[in-house]
Amino acid sequence: MTCTVVVCGFFGDTGKGKIISYLALKDEIAVTARAGVGPNAGHTVVHEGKQYKLRMLPSSFLYKNCRLLIGPGVLVNPNVFLKEIEMTHSEDRVGVDLQCAIIEQKHIEADRKGHLAEKIQTTGTGTGPCNAERALRIVKIAKDIPSLQKFLADVPSEVNRAIDEGKNVLIEGTQGTYLSLFHGTYPYCTSKDVTASAACSDVGVGPTKVDEVILVLKAYTTRVGGGFLPNELSEEEATERGWLEVATVTGRKRRAAPFSYELARRAVMLNGATQLAITKIDVSFPECKGLRSYGELSREARKFVEKVEKETKVPVTLVGTGPDAWEIVDRRA
Ligand code: IMP
Ligand code: MG
Repeated sequence: MTCTVVVCGFFGDTGKGKIISYLALKDEIAVTARAGVGPNAGHTVVHEGKQYKLRMLPSSFLYKNCRLLIGPGVLVNPNVFLKEIEMTHSEDRVGVDLQCAIIEQKHIEADRKGHLAEKIQTTGTGTGPCNAERALRIVKIAKDIPSLQKFLADVPSEVNRAIDEGKNVLIEGTQGTYLSLFHGTYPYCTSKDVTASAACSDVGVGPTKVDEVILVLKAYTTRVGGGFLPNELSEEEATERGWLEVATVTGRKRRAAPFSYELARRAVMLNGATQLAITKIDVSFPECKGLRSYGELSREARKFVEKVEKETKVPVTLVGTGPDAWEIVDRRA
């Protein structure tokens, strides 16, 4: 029974939603606590032909016995939160921490003009201005919002109790290491730290309670908005390789580049990764689509996976071979 943190080693959009939905089903995760910034993240979950895009609720919802929590460090947009509860039919198992800061219309408006919109090219979801008000200690928190009353929870107590009782607990990070306010490509980054330590802090779990940190990497690199992307390809080249993606939250085209071993190594260090997950191997190696055992992967795909292990000195335990939660190679013992 383990407490696992899942975070991204690049610029977000590496497929945490897919990895987490698989882990929830496979490991029967009892409690998932969402960490990270807030509804600027979009996690995609695909299962039995249906696609879900989540910006507030944990990606573990597919596993019906999983308690779905949002940690006090996370910013909540009540409209998005309530809509997702409806979409996932999860009213009876969702909890939002009393101290989550609340995104209001004025934050969204401030995020859609001037420096934030033009230079940083944020998602426009209000998260930066809301975190700024939180730092000033003038922001509203969840316990003041009537529509959230029946979902209020003491998330750190619930999560730590589950850990103490030996249940499987997952802490869901959002964004990516290089979007971190501290460790990312400043000023082209998000409004707080988003590495594994920050994810733990967001949900009130101390570092001694964590067993595994799974760092999610995609077979290629993408980023949306401004900022440096090493070896960035032109839009034509990205299209040709099948790497041109569209962002979940904003609908913007994502910029693309080949896999970066250098970024992966540093992300391993910054997050204390104990395992790696590589997603979208089927996009770079189409012959691997839907495969479920490591031995079936093509020689080229295995060579890539093994090179990642050699360069980072961390085992690649999960390899995504398609968007569905079950399209995955699981090499854990
Ligand atoms: P903000 O987090 O909306 O303030 O945006 C700051 C920068 O982080 C922009 O470049 C966004 O595109 C990027 N960003 C924020 N959240 C995500 C995410 O979940 N995935 C990918 N990029 C993100
Ligand atoms: Mg995303």
